[in-house]
Amino acid sequence: MNGFQSAMHPAGVQASELHHLWNIFLCVSIVVYGITLAAVLIAVRRSHRRTEPLADAPSERRATIAVAIGAGMTFVTVLALLVASVATGRTVGTLGRLGTAHLEIDVTGHQWWWEVTYPNSEPDKSIRTANEIHIPVGKPVELRLATRDVIHSLWIPNLHGKRDLIPGRVNKFWIEADRPGVYRGQCAEFCGLQHANMALTVIAESQDAYDRWLEHQRTAAPEPVTDAQRRGRQAFLSLPCVNCHAITGIDAYATAGPDLTHIASRSTLAAGTLINNKGSLSGWVVNPQALKPGSNMPANEMTPQQLNDLVAYLESLQ
Ligand code: CUA
Repeated sequence: MNGFQSAMHPAGVQASELHHLWNIFLCVSIVVYGITLAAVLIAVRRSHRRTEPLADAPSERRATIAVAIGAGMTFVTVLALLVASVATGRTVGTLGRLGTAHLEIDVTGHQWWWEVTYPNSEPDKSIRTANEIHIPVGKPVELRLATRDVIHSLWIPNLHGKRDLIPGRVNKFWIEADRPGVYRGQCAEFCGLQHANMALTVIAESQDAYDRWLEHQRTAAPEPVTDAQRRGRQAFLSLPCVNCHAITGIDAYATAGPDLTHIASRSTLAAGTLINNKGSLSGWVVNPQALKPGSNMPANEMTPQQLNDLVAYLESLQ
């Protein structure tokens, strides 16, 4: 489930406002283009018919008037578009801020993945996931954007325009989905080699489904059930995996890479690069550089048995 991405199909109030503005610009541009083209055609036809010299006094006066009218119309049109644009910007900026009940989510950009944190006043209730944002439909959500390295830009076209993630500050913006769906987002600011493979998925769902998801994400990683899963957990702890990744419930606390506590519940791997299934997970674990060259995850040497066990364990982390 990679999601659907289109600014032409708004699924939230902010995106609807932007889409509305886009429609105004489109209609005005079509009219202006039509008028300009008609004027050019008329001028061409007249110049073909004309036999007398061009610079006679009355036609020069007419031309001056025509240019003045054209300049005036252009000024008024551009001014009207400017007013519409500023008004939309202000509306979009205040949407969501009006209601008091809202959700706060921290999104941190990394080269090249998204860290997503749901803070809670009780620390053991806050959760940390990656490349996936779950939100309840119809509820304003404040996204607080930060970055661990370079400038990124979050863009979820169905829900909102772009907002930069700037080193050393927190940029806030609001989204609100008005219908359930899976919406694809991506980084919209060149941030290095794998900028194109820095996507995320927004899952807008009913409050009930969202609450269930949140409650589940707060639980520790499930205990291994099979022998392979048990050996896989041991492999995870003895291989370099544990140097970068955290899994709640076992001795794995590193935060350099995505939290893997519930990795099997996510739809993609490596920030939307791969569909999350056994095959791509195996390939990714052994040689990420072949699939996403330049990413921070190094190749990992392991026996085929270790790989099978490790993947069996990771796949059990629902
Ligand atoms: Cu992050 Cu482009």
